[in-house]
Amino acid sequence: MNRKSLIYTIIIIASIISILLVCFGIGGKTSDSSKVEQYKEYSDLDNISIWLATDIHYIDPNLTDGGEYYQRMVESGDGKYMYGCEEITDEFISQVIEAHPSALILSGDITFNGARDSHIALANKLKAISDAGIPVIALPGNHDLTVGRAAKFSGDSYELVDSIDASEFLDIYSDYGFSNAVARDDTSLSYVTEIAPNLRVLVVDVNTVPGMSGILTNSTLDFVEEQLKQAKEDKAYVIGVTHQTLLEHSELTSQGMTFINNDKLLDLYEKYDVLMNLSGHMHIQHIKESNDGFVEIATGALMTAPNYHGEISLNGRRMTYKAVPTITDEKLSVAAEGFLWTNAYRQAMELVETQDNSADLAGYFADFNVNYIAGRPDLIQWDSELNKQWEETDSFVPVYFQVVADEMEASKQQNFSEYTIKW
Ligand SMILES: [Fe+2]
Repeated sequence: MNRKSLIYTIIIIASIISILLVCFGIGGKTSDSSKVEQYKEYSDLDNISIWLATDIHYIDPNLTDGGEYYQRMVESGDGKYMYGCEEITDEFISQVIEAHPSALILSGDITFNGARDSHIALANKLKAISDAGIPVIALPGNHDLTVGRAAKFSGDSYELVDSIDASEFLDIYSDYGFSNAVARDDTSLSYVTEIAPNLRVLVVDVNTVPGMSGILTNSTLDFVEEQLKQAKEDKAYVIGVTHQTLLEHSELTSQGMTFINNDKLLDLYEKYDVLMNLSGHMHIQHIKESNDGFVEIATGALMTAPNYHGEISLNGRRMTYKAVPTITDEKLSVAAEGFLWTNAYRQAMELVETQDNSADLAGYFADFNVNYIAGRPDLIQWDSELNKQWEETDSFVPVYFQVVADEMEASKQQNFSEYTIKW
């Protein structure tokens, strides 16, 4: 392995491990919680469905010829199946139109690398959804605004292209949340939109200010508190949306998975009884509960196997969430999963290539990784002999395994693809 790919491998594995350290499985769980008291004066919700996609990482097909440079970047990336980008995006949009949810949330990293052309091309596709009468609620992620590496790829090289700033984002996505917002923050792209008279979505943006990506500012916190006070006064339920995670799904996620001042936002959400937070950014399906029982659901990336989108149903006094694989074409879904698997296999193989059963060891790691990214550690087939052999290697892998084993021991449920809240 060359030095650059070794460093990249370490970053990838470290980031996977970072997700694992303090995750306690709560997925697939029903929380019939203390919310009864806090919502007793609120009216019942009336059969509302919300779909969510995050980390689409869409690239305008005109920005790549699929040549060597792009291929190298995709193959050495984090497992996003960019070769299926157009097909997966189109399939998702068709499914949204067919299912006709009450709203569609896009929680950031809408584009591959922030290129203006990718934003415009995707916004054009979204028009079919809004034309069908389905409100789209869009939020930028850390890959969407003022990205210096926005590029067009051709052959074995690339040329830099324009990204967009916050005001252009507002122009391009004006019909996707902003023009119908009941309130907007002057200092960020945060806003509130109403899905039903008693249900609001509070979109909190921490990626607008150039050079300050991942920082929730005091002025936006003031906006949030004002909106939460108003919602409480109006007895309207609030669902929060961020791109980065509100909760630390692991002890190490402060290194880029959450945002600065997340604790202040959590305090407000717990004080004003926000129903839950929806996020993405990790490219791993995961659910986390705060010490006081506040729930965050981080949906996996649309472009990474198993290519989940979230489907949320709210009815009466019950909310159910389900992560649903988007791809229906079997060949495409096998290719996307195979890509993620092979990516992990290749990294693992580099760690154990001198061992006699290197293929078994690398395959075991790849299976393990695919299941964890899918939010299904319950599907991992543990093999004590292969575990033992990995323990003898000088790598991150045994730590990864141990952290997941500890996580599974700490909780009876490890299915992060489903969740129910009743009150
Ligand atoms: Fe992303």
